[in-house]
Amino acid sequence: MNFGALGWGKTNRLAQMFKPNQDGEYHTVMLAVDHPYFYGPTEGLIDPRKTIRPIVPYADAISPAKGTLEYCLDPFVTTPVILRVTGGNSLTRRDELSNEHIITSVDEAVRLNAIGVSVSVYIDSDHQTQTIKNLGTLANQASKYGLLVLGITAVGATLEQRIKGEGAGDDTFDAARYFAHAGRIIQENGADIVKTYYCDNFEQVREGIQVPIVIAGGKKIPEQEALEFTYNAISAGANGVDMGRNIFQAEAPAEMIQAVKSIVHEGKTPDEAMVIYDELKQGTP
Ligand code: R5P
Repeated sequence: MNFGALGWGKTNRLAQMFKPNQDGEYHTVMLAVDHPYFYGPTEGLIDPRKTIRPIVPYADAISPAKGTLEYCLDPFVTTPVILRVTGGNSLTRRDELSNEHIITSVDEAVRLNAIGVSVSVYIDSDHQTQTIKNLGTLANQASKYGLLVLGITAVGATLEQRIKGEGAGDDTFDAARYFAHAGRIIQENGADIVKTYYCDNFEQVREGIQVPIVIAGGKKIPEQEALEFTYNAISAGANGVDMGRNIFQAEAPAEMIQAVKSIVHEGKTPDEAMVIYDELKQGTP
């Protein structure tokens, strides 16, 4: 991973959330808990004080929005924060999901001691230009303080329907081509980290993006399947995950995040990680 080009501040902040393995490769397991900014009180995040506080110490970084961070998470925990700063949408208006603005300022992120900010970019949506501009504006402001910018490849309602495995699916949709296209645009407009989705032919996505890539988890699926796509993503060159529902909606969230970490940081296979998950659940590791 190319830490050197970024300057000391950003490099140091990256080093707080990306951990080296024994081969000197840097990976991260981020816990995504920003969903309520447009989902409202979704399963697993209805009261994060009860569900998320206990698992935050296992994460290499967390990505909440401001409300969850300030009111629900423990300020004495030193897990680095990447603060969600765009919004303005709600699931009640699914056709307007891409209409995001900058909601929380970079100054607020500094006040909250975040190491970076996250911003959604909706490529091939009605608000493509607006959301790229959000990213560019935040990148310019964040750079003054050496804060990291995590650019999220956001899929609005229309695109979600076309991605294989989501909604009705669309066999003609080339997900790798789309995510490579979107991710590179996000890099070019100021992101230090690109968040995207795992898909077939993920190597094509990796090849065209030079900044670190983290993978979102998507809708809750069986634990074994979530561990499999985590393994496949890391094998194809992803630098980690920013995973939410497949951790905090798992039967055993603390055990699930440890199983994900065993793949991302220790190179365990999905089957080995599943054994770790089951043993931790039974209290017999
Ligand atoms: C989505 O809007 C948020 O950026 C989530 O943080 C992201 O989707 C990752 O969460 P999950 O793994 O639940 O998809």
